[in-house]
Amino acid sequence: MALQTSFLLPSISIYKEGKSNVCLKETSFFGVTISSHLKAELKSSQISIKNFRKRELPIVTVEAQTATTTPAITQAAPDGKKTLRKGNVIITGASSGLGLATAKALADTGKWHIVMACRNFLKAERAAKSVGIDRENYTVMHLDLASFDSIRQFVDTFQHSDRPLDALVCNAAVYLPTAKDPSYTAEGFELSVGTNHLGHFLLSRLLLDDLKKSDYPSKRLIIVGLHHSEIGIICSRNTNTLAGNVPPKANLGDLRGLAGGLNGLNSSPMIDGGEFDGAKAYKDSKVCNMLTMQEFHRRYREETGITFASLYPGCIATTGLFREHIPLFRLLFPPFQKYITKGYVSEEEAGKRLAQVVSDPNLIKSGVYWSWNKNSSSFENQLSEEASDPEKARKVWEVSEKLVGLA
Ligand SMILES: NC(=O)c1ccc[n+]([C@@H]2O[C@H](COP(=O)([O-])OP(=O)(O)OC[C@H]3O[C@@H](n4cnc5c(N)ncnc54)[C@H](OP(=O)(O)O)[C@@H]3O)[C@@H](O)[C@H]2O)c1
Repeated sequence: MALQTSFLLPSISIYKEGKSNVCLKETSFFGVTISSHLKAELKSSQISIKNFRKRELPIVTVEAQTATTTPAITQAAPDGKKTLRKGNVIITGASSGLGLATAKALADTGKWHIVMACRNFLKAERAAKSVGIDRENYTVMHLDLASFDSIRQFVDTFQHSDRPLDALVCNAAVYLPTAKDPSYTAEGFELSVGTNHLGHFLLSRLLLDDLKKSDYPSKRLIIVGLHHSEIGIICSRNTNTLAGNVPPKANLGDLRGLAGGLNGLNSSPMIDGGEFDGAKAYKDSKVCNMLTMQEFHRRYREETGITFASLYPGCIATTGLFREHIPLFRLLFPPFQKYITKGYVSEEEAGKRLAQVVSDPNLIKSGVYWSWNKNSSSFENQLSEEASDPEKARKVWEVSEKLVGLA
């Protein structure tokens, strides 16, 4: 099914002027094709990789805050009764979008202390204030997932805080759909896979023992996933056919690019060894997230009692995730999701869903990929062949632990 842009917004024209030449690789809105391979020359400086770097680099270096208490699992209330202490959850990328909404939803229960693990300290502080999270309910700690040094420093700082760890939410992500050339992490891995997958892989591995030690009733490691149509998840209850077949499809192939180090020099920057494609790199990184979650479950569920889970919270079309997309896409995507696919969820609703996966006693099952139906009821979704292939998960795990320096 093809839907032309003129149908959606007849009055919008694409500039053909200036030097910015943007290849629009993401050619559809969740399955509805705009054109098969629309190439637009846009007079927009916002979408150049040069400016992306300019915006991402000036991160304020601030010493991470630390907490100093080691609360026991139960605390004595004034009336002498024992009550459950606050849970402690680390949320990566809590400075905006889903991460911030989840921090807010958990903080509002009064039962959680949120460690906002963010690359931009001041942005995170301002974000927490802007949504009204009580000061006593959060701590901002600096974490740049695109740097292994930063990840190790974050873990060290957290461990020295003596705060127990009851839940870890791997939420942060970068999405570079219009990038013509790859960008790289500090260690030289393609940025999307390096941040979304390798960064979270290292972080989760380093914090696993802390989670294991938690005496909280249920300890959880959650990795945020992607829409079923984007990474090939078979959605058992979603009958919305508009939401399928979004090119480019994720495909890890035989992992030759990943095994080669994704550095674009002596190996491809893409996991499957192919040509760079920013949208595909993001989706591939999400398949790795799903495979990692399942491999964690296989390797550590029994030994640690940790619940490992993933989820697709719905299409939160308004978040900063799409900031690198072309202006036309950013304009059309939210109304398209609201009125045509009807897959749209607000940041607030998505935050409540992720908060549910962190804390709801009914969602304690491990190895599960959660989704929500139109009535906002959670259900266990199924994964596609590639996203649930145990052999592929084992290989991704083994290659990744070499790349992050754990093997
Ligand atoms: N939006 C959707 O429709 C949708 C749908 C399905 C899944 N998701 C998933 O939801 C999660 C959150 O995305 P979002 O939509 O909320 O987008 P977002 O608002 O752009 O949030 C992404 C967060 O990741 C952080 N981040 C990026 N690179 C980082 C790095 N190197 N180190 C530390 N933090 C970094 C960003 O920090 P800054 O604030 O400093 O930029 C931001 O806080 C992602 O995993 C995404 O794949 C989103």
